[in-house]
Amino acid sequence: MREEMKKRAGEYAAKYIKDGQVVGLGTGSTVKYTILELGRMVKEGIDIIGIPTSKATGQLAESVGIKLGSIDEYPEIDITVDGADEVDPNLNLIKGGGGALLREKIVAHASKYEVIVVDESKVKKVLGEFPLPIEIVRFGYRRTMNVLSSLGCGPSLRMQDKTPFITDNGNYIVDCKFNRIENPKILEEKIDKIPGVVEIGLFIDMANEVVVGKKEEVEIMRRP
Ligand code: 5RP
Repeated sequence: MREEMKKRAGEYAAKYIKDGQVVGLGTGSTVKYTILELGRMVKEGIDIIGIPTSKATGQLAESVGIKLGSIDEYPEIDITVDGADEVDPNLNLIKGGGGALLREKIVAHASKYEVIVVDESKVKKVLGEFPLPIEIVRFGYRRTMNVLSSLGCGPSLRMQDKTPFITDNGNYIVDCKFNRIENPKILEEKIDKIPGVVEIGLFIDMANEVVVGKKEEVEIMRRP
């Protein structure tokens, strides 16, 4: 059922893409459906350039025939479609469950319009149940984690196959369980000041619309 909701949201968001656009391509199992749909649209003749937010997304997009470019070639992106781990009523997001938050944030910041695709389980009144992903440099990572825990979270180093997960940028990810993030903007400012932190999975005032996949329809959330 959840997979159907993801598919419904992901495919719906492909309708936002117009011929000739530079399109940021997010990372994850929901936006995968947007990318597959865009692949079908490319075969039918639409001409777009995709800017991938991860190596995995780049591979998927190429495999379905989407032409790729880099953000250095296309520093202004018309529209980006991406997933999220949590969404609040103000369209603030937690992202980074797939470990691509740094590139996702750079691409979101460069985008004129950011569309987020989620299934309904990701919509929350308050952010923080999902552990907040934070990308940190490897040097001094234990100390960085200690400083993060002093902000009231339980930090855990993300692992993959018994070794630390390494991002596409060669860094570590720490997942910080806050439970309730009452003021995402203030928390982001505090974490941003910690040496060793590269990027934070809080996306504040970045999403323009969220497409929520439900059992039988999609709901569109817009920033209040
Ligand atoms: C990757 C992300 C993803 O967009 C987020 O984790 C949602 O993924 P999914 O659609 O697979 O639940 O932020 O860094």
